[in-house]
Amino acid sequence: MIGDDLLDLGGQVALVTGAGQSVGREIALTLAKHNAGGIAVNDFVLERAAAVAAEIEALGVRAVPVSFDVGDLEAVRGGVKAAAESLGPVTLLVNNAGNAGPNAQIGLGPEFWESDPGDWDRFFRTNTFGVMNCCHAAIPGMIQAGRGRIVAIVSDAGRVGEARLAPYAAAKAAAAGFVRALAKETGRYGVTCNAISLSAVAPPMEAEKARAFEESDQARRQVSRYVIRRFGRPSDVAGMAAFLCSDAAAFITGQTYPVNGGYSFAV
Ligand SMILES: NC(=O)c1ccc[n+]([C@@H]2O[C@H](COP(=O)([O-])OP(=O)(O)OC[C@H]3O[C@@H](n4cnc5c(N)ncnc54)[C@H](O)[C@@H]3O)[C@@H](O)[C@H]2O)c1
Repeated sequence: MIGDDLLDLGGQVALVTGAGQSVGREIALTLAKHNAGGIAVNDFVLERAAAVAAEIEALGVRAVPVSFDVGDLEAVRGGVKAAAESLGPVTLLVNNAGNAGPNAQIGLGPEFWESDPGDWDRFFRTNTFGVMNCCHAAIPGMIQAGRGRIVAIVSDAGRVGEARLAPYAAAKAAAAGFVRALAKETGRYGVTCNAISLSAVAPPMEAEKARAFEESDQARRQVSRYVIRRFGRPSDVAGMAAFLCSDAAAFITGQTYPVNGGYSFAV
């Protein structure tokens, strides 16, 4: 997509975390389609990262799988270094890895006062410290390059609140606040920092199961709270991520953009 592409990424190298499936996978593929020079595909699960890297290579764009836990700073440093050695300096960083950590699904918990304090850490480890770790490792290279784009995928649970998801909501709100502060530090180096806030994205499942799920009472109830009456799709998020990584968004920093079908409105 070289030529008149408003979202042309000019051959820059991207690192997308948690990109082995769903939203992160779609972001990685979309950046590749918009002329990224290479994609470092991170996932805690190596096989997933390798499969997505192979999909990107099939598009004719260089890609490497870099498997690490974003909550482990030493491993993050090693991954950013390996990505730069294989592909060149990372100037696009999309912090997508999230939820309840590498081995856990997010789900409604008990009410906060009944939650086990020992259970809070896993939300912060991935959704907050994971973002901080990746930014800490990648920003020096961006400053050296005199350009950079940082995007964090957060949640409307953190922006407008969601019952029985308080630790997750707190960790996502912390990431958005972190990105705002970082924007103020990095702007003078040509680096922008923004967040994208999601509502429910349809989980990855086979077409038949997805149809059955969408027709269930639970899904219909949930979707009735959206102005656009459907679940989000990974492609909805990937478009915004590509935009924020592109030169078209050069004057946008420190913002949180809801991509949520009108579940809540930003003012
Ligand atoms: N799906 C939703 O409804 C929804 C809603 C709001 C926000 N979000 C956010 O969007 C992002 C993507 O969500 P998704 O639904 O595509 O997730 P997903 O669970 O489908 O995929 C996440 C991928 O990240 C990997 N991962 C998890 N923790 C990791 C870690 N610590 N280090 C490295 N890799 C890790 C997993 O192995 C998995 O392959 C997350 O930040 C999530 O919190 C999702």
